[in-house]
Amino acid sequence: MLMNQLAVELNKTLEGTAAEQLLSDLGRRIYFPKGIIAQSAEAKKSAHRANATIGMACSGGKPLRLRVFAEQFPSFTENESVAYAPTAGVEKLRYLWQEQILRKNPALAEADISLPVIVPGLTAGISYTADLFLDAGQTILAGVPCWDNYSLIFEERRGAALKGIHFVNEGDTSVNAGGTSSGCIDLAAIEKAVNEEAAGGLVRLIINFPNNPTGYSPGVDEAAAISSILERAAKNGVKILVLCDDAYFGLFYEEATFKESLFGKLANLHRNILAVKIDGPTKEDYVWGLRLAAVTFGCKGMNEACYEALIKKMMGLVRSSVSCANTPSQYAFIKAHDNAGIEDEKRAYFEMLKERYLLVKKFIAQNKAPAFLKPLPFNSGYFMSFKTIGVSAEAIRRALLAEYGIGAIALGADYLRVAFASLETSQIEEVYGKLYALTPL
Ligand SMILES: Cc1ncc(COP(=O)(O)O)c(C=O)c1O
Repeated sequence: MLMNQLAVELNKTLEGTAAEQLLSDLGRRIYFPKGIIAQSAEAKKSAHRANATIGMACSGGKPLRLRVFAEQFPSFTENESVAYAPTAGVEKLRYLWQEQILRKNPALAEADISLPVIVPGLTAGISYTADLFLDAGQTILAGVPCWDNYSLIFEERRGAALKGIHFVNEGDTSVNAGGTSSGCIDLAAIEKAVNEEAAGGLVRLIINFPNNPTGYSPGVDEAAAISSILERAAKNGVKILVLCDDAYFGLFYEEATFKESLFGKLANLHRNILAVKIDGPTKEDYVWGLRLAAVTFGCKGMNEACYEALIKKMMGLVRSSVSCANTPSQYAFIKAHDNAGIEDEKRAYFEMLKERYLLVKKFIAQNKAPAFLKPLPFNSGYFMSFKTIGVSAEAIRRALLAEYGIGAIALGADYLRVAFASLETSQIEEVYGKLYALTPL
């Protein structure tokens, strides 16, 4: 199939960048058409007489809105509640989110990053980024264990191979302390996996800290060491794509933990490293169902035109799948962040989760784990995990559920994940006590 001229132009803009070499086949072909959306955006600015462009029913210059819907959104205008949102997201939200990324990641002070593209949730952001940069038969590196949805996104949807690296050093019994601040990342395993991939000239990697399911985030030195590993490969001419899945950003409970996104270190590190930050309010603002997230690009030396080309391609992916993210969610976020009380409320929730973390940490430190469970290091986020030894995680999960009515998650054959974030503090001692007392078959 002949490539659309707009895609040809976007690819030309990206010529010579790492992004150009990392694009998938779909990534090369995708573009944002000068169709209905672009033409109606133009009309919105200049059609002062009448606007007959967009597929919305209007009256008095506003979208029609049923009273019953108006009542559901009492503080929202028609445009904020029932109108379509722009493909890349409401502009005010895009600038607000970028400002927040810069504020939360001082390492980005020297970096030029793109404006975020708003997508309906981090899952969508990861999936679109995979569409853009990952072809069938290619490999993407990820920590083991990892969020189970990576397998659906990268392997089943994209036909790529998900190659696991043991990010957290499971073999070292000296780090079998459960809650811990740093020193548990298996840097040698990461370097080995990166170098093996680098032999083919391209490396694709997804990083997720605070991690789901282990709950581990690197210490300051470990974060620096990970970025040094990638920088060394980049200096050898390897083109590297790093997806930073920052779903649980901010939930860092220990002093020595690196409290920024690795995106901050990577976005301005080397021309051969293209970093993509996928983040959003899902967990940061406790709004799981709003379905709101952002995709932001960062690559040393990339100019505005290149970022715009990547944004246009991302918009093509949004337009061709969900068309745009949810409008009231975007305005709800903007309005909530206009409210001075939001940071105090978020801090109170953070303290609530930290208290649960500290209780789990205390339990693990004070109680010897049974032979079939090895607590993995954790210091952040929602979860902690056990490596199961000699018994399948599924058998333990079933026994816990059948004997005590307690639910946990079995991941693969030998990881058991406990979401302490969803337990009341009063339940923690009991849940872990029962788990430790279990006699699984
Ligand atoms: C590691 C990780 N990434 C992404 C997501 C998805 O976030 P969203 O609900 O915004 O799609 C989750 C949700 O559980 C997650 O654990």
